[in-house]
Amino acid sequence: MYNKITIDILNLFKQVIDSNRLLVDTNQLADYAHDETEDFHFFPEAVALPESPDEIAALIKICHTHRIPVTPRGAGTGLSGGSLAVHGGLMIGMERMNQILEIDEQNLQATVEPGVITEVLMQAVAEKGLLYPVDPASKGSCFIGGNISYGSGGPRVVKYGTIREYILNLQVVLPNGEIIWTGANTLKYASGYNLTQLFIGAEGTLGIICKAVVKLIPKPAENLLLFASFRSNELACEAVSAIFRKGIVPSALEFMERKGVAWVIEHEHLTFNLMPEAEAFLLIEVDGNQLDELMRVCEQINDTLEHYHCLDVLFAESASQKESLWHLRRIMGVSVKSKAIYKEEDTVVPRAALPTLIRGIKDIGQRYGFESVCYGHAGDGNLHVNILKGEMSADDWNNRLKEGIRELFELTIKLGGTISGEHGIGLVQREYMPLKYTPLHLELMQGIKKVFDPHQILNPGKIF
Ligand code: MLT
Ligand code: ZN
Repeated sequence: MYNKITIDILNLFKQVIDSNRLLVDTNQLADYAHDETEDFHFFPEAVALPESPDEIAALIKICHTHRIPVTPRGAGTGLSGGSLAVHGGLMIGMERMNQILEIDEQNLQATVEPGVITEVLMQAVAEKGLLYPVDPASKGSCFIGGNISYGSGGPRVVKYGTIREYILNLQVVLPNGEIIWTGANTLKYASGYNLTQLFIGAEGTLGIICKAVVKLIPKPAENLLLFASFRSNELACEAVSAIFRKGIVPSALEFMERKGVAWVIEHEHLTFNLMPEAEAFLLIEVDGNQLDELMRVCEQINDTLEHYHCLDVLFAESASQKESLWHLRRIMGVSVKSKAIYKEEDTVVPRAALPTLIRGIKDIGQRYGFESVCYGHAGDGNLHVNILKGEMSADDWNNRLKEGIRELFELTIKLGGTISGEHGIGLVQREYMPLKYTPLHLELMQGIKKVFDPHQILNPGKIF
């Protein structure tokens, strides 16, 4: 179905991009052969590092003509194998396209290239009193282009929404090498099919994003942070929806299991004491412009938590204490990965179903012989389930566990949820797509793919 990159094809690439931005050496390719997903390695045949949409378009045209698979790649922080070159071919790395092209303070918008690191954008707009609120745990290294391609979230989604709500317009190179803008730089869009939204979360299978116009909002002046300890996972999860039922919308509401927190403490050499009887924790942030109003909201939260036998509420008193608590949560994925062989699932259910979900996860674990460490964006009903290999035999880990994961997804779907909230389908979850979707759904999605990419050259082997 696909052709290999021959010397002749390489020479064609060299006509459109400097040869020092065309990597073919195995050592250099090794950096692009994996992401943050388990232990997969797929080497591309070459990696191009373009500096403009025109260069991307010229490369894609060659690949389109010669049926060479193309894998777009951001920072490689993905958790679903979405940026792995499973069919070899050309990888297009976006790291050289890393400019913030404009911050438009009149319209509260910014135009950025896809290789901008998310936190760099956040800091640049913060200097102007503005907020770009989409902050995945990997914000210090992930690229905005990857965030768009995966419909990323993070802790603040609960109040501010996912990246879908912050992308106004995209410039993309299509799989035939044409360049288009998908929409308009407007806050409303009722002008036919919304192609911008279609490209968000398309995991680089429909086109390569080369510019994005993002929405900004005024930065709230104040925030307060609470760290609450609970006797059980279920009690912590029950408290989550109770907070919203009181009419409170926190700017973050994160759940963490004890083992995850303990591993972070060990990994980061922190001096942070956990109550011996605490099994689960909530990190709760509220933000706004009136400090006294936020204090009142925190008291309401405190009262609510008491109904769930909350053991203790730590109120972060300084900016550095807030930063430490956030670091503890953000580094959890990395800490768990450093301690254990794991597989990570990204379950999401309607918020009030969280207690049933966490009970179900532990029950499935008992039946299939695995332990899990769960943490995540409880305010969104989004739990990351890190399944630990522990004492499982290789056969159970490689084969029987698939049935356990299937049961886990069946449970999330039965509870009204789906198989990924923010990490995407990529390579890793695609075998579970038929659990969520009927053949008709899948046919509709694949029909869309064919319209954009009839020769299936762009990021093949993903989603379906
Ligand atoms: C997180 O919430 O920490 C991220 O989604 C990353 C992860 O789960 O490892
Ligand atoms: Zn997450």
